[in-house]
Amino acid sequence: MWVFGYGSLIWKVDFPYEERKIGFIKGFSRRFWQGSTDHRGVPGKPGRVVTLVEDPEGCVWGVAYKLPTGREQEVKRYLDYREKGGYQVIAVTFHPRPPAAAPQPGQTLLYIGSQDNPDYLGPAPLEEIANQIAECTGPSGRNAEYLFELADAVRTIAPEDRDSHLFSLEGLVRERLQKSERLQTG
Ligand code: SIN
Repeated sequence: MWVFGYGSLIWKVDFPYEERKIGFIKGFSRRFWQGSTDHRGVPGKPGRVVTLVEDPEGCVWGVAYKLPTGREQEVKRYLDYREKGGYQVIAVTFHPRPPAAAPQPGQTLLYIGSQDNPDYLGPAPLEEIANQIAECTGPSGRNAEYLFELADAVRTIAPEDRDSHLFSLEGLVRERLQKSERLQTG
């Protein structure tokens, strides 16, 4: 059993795995359109975390993990719990890079927050999304930390990736935080 991570599963690896491969999936784009009331926000003041939206031209880089043989269900149960905030599991085709010799993951599972889940927030102007990320915090920490860790991780695994949604938000949120720091220090 392989699980593909495109968000916090890339950089917050608090589960055991047997093997890890960098690669991408096609037909989706990564968007900060999923609300988070259990990790990066709270009920009434949700943060924004990533989900995938269907996009025929899209390509999303991430990491596929092979769950430990014999413990797949146990680890999957943990991941289901961790990703319980509106995510459901679907199967997709994974393309490892560099193209690996067999055995390849091929089909992987992934967690997606689709439009019909109660925490889904959907699109908004980038400026508004940046404000929300700059201001929110939840039990797992600041929403801005989630964004910065993800941007760093994507740069590391796929330096060629031009995820303009992710990197534009990173720039906007950094600006906002620097501005509020300057205000605080006078
Ligand atoms: C993922 O990382 O693949 C799912 C979304 C998240 O937990 O950030």
